[in-house]
Amino acid sequence: MSLKEKDPEIYSLVRKEMQRQQECIDLIASENYAPPEVLEATGSVLTNKYSEGYPGKRYYAGNEFIDQVETLAIERAKKLFGVDHANVQSHSGSTANYCAYSALVPAGETIMGMELSQGGHLTHGSPVNFSGKTYKVVSYAVDKKTEMLDFDVIRKQAVEHKPKLIICGYTAYPRTVHFDKFREVADACGAYLLADISHIAGLIAGGAHPSPAKYADVITTTTHKTLRGPRGAIIMCKAEFAQMIDKSVFPGAQGGPLDHVTAAKAVCFHNAMQKDFSDYAHQIVKNAKVLAEELHAKGLRLVSGGTDNHLILVDLTPMGITGKDAQIALEKAGIICNKNTIPYDTQKPFVASGIRLGTPAMTTRGMKESEIKEVATLLMKGLHKRTDDAALASIKEEVKALCSRYPVYKEYTH
Ligand SMILES: Cc1ncc(COP(=O)(O)O)c(C=O)c1O
Repeated sequence: MSLKEKDPEIYSLVRKEMQRQQECIDLIASENYAPPEVLEATGSVLTNKYSEGYPGKRYYAGNEFIDQVETLAIERAKKLFGVDHANVQSHSGSTANYCAYSALVPAGETIMGMELSQGGHLTHGSPVNFSGKTYKVVSYAVDKKTEMLDFDVIRKQAVEHKPKLIICGYTAYPRTVHFDKFREVADACGAYLLADISHIAGLIAGGAHPSPAKYADVITTTTHKTLRGPRGAIIMCKAEFAQMIDKSVFPGAQGGPLDHVTAAKAVCFHNAMQKDFSDYAHQIVKNAKVLAEELHAKGLRLVSGGTDNHLILVDLTPMGITGKDAQIALEKAGIICNKNTIPYDTQKPFVASGIRLGTPAMTTRGMKESEIKEVATLLMKGLHKRTDDAALASIKEEVKALCSRYPVYKEYTH
């Protein structure tokens, strides 16, 4: 019996969500559309299996094929990112960071990461998160003027506070992360270097952003953002940390791995090794640059003046709009984005002075520079007409028409 017959309520909500995804412009920088083969693996019978442990060393019988799936995922991750070791069992980016930190740093020691309101992630030391509760935290920020990382200041902070671990890689930083410079800082204070590439993993895999493989001791990444895989994460590291990382994931923090998700991760790594993925990664960046240029030309202030990657941070203060109001108005126009604090924001995070815009999802749909220009026009119209619900509804129709030219799932339109 199908979901439709067994549980019409959930079925109907899934269908509505699919329609919403089809009809909206998704500019959330951390979202993407997983391809059908990733969805198929995620929805497979592998969900039925328990396989605590690692390939060849499981606590339960019956893991002949699961072992092969996990080994394939590990080998593909190693090849894709050029690393010694990969653990593919992390359920999410946050737990991956939890496992990586606990493997390397005893509770109570000092870690250093970018402040949340500046573009870091919650798990990079926020006081409301395990990271801020377990460790002493030294936070770094971007330079007030350039709104970019200043390595002289970061180095000074690191040498003064001597953290055991430095985290680089962010949630809302529109510029290149210079892993080589972070390595120098880490060496200057004797810290481990962790690169959290959750946002940019797809760009790195596709050669559109420098790789941390040579520089970082440990690399964590989600698999569902630019990498276009299932929800989940992996941890990669130098050979010397392999055992510590594996133990920290299981039995340290998790029980059974999600084998169906591991299979889907393997599929996404395979996809990311293909030539068309490299084209995709480069197109994401081209699209983000065009979106930045268009919005700037139309009068918006961009944090740091532009972008090198897949995302843009817009400061709406000069327009007299908060991030929250912009997010609400744009959603009425069928344009989905998130309010975001900007560096040195004077608004609370739930209001925020900016919005974050990303191009990974619309690039997956096949949009290129000319369509992104249309997106910029629609977005500006939405901001200007933010208090006019009728105008926003009419923009939504234009958005729908644009989206109908770029189907998300041709396979599931029945
Ligand atoms: C840089 C970074 N690290 C970690 C995470 C956490 O990932 P998850 O939401 O899977 O826990 C995110 C999610 O947005 C992120 O941006």
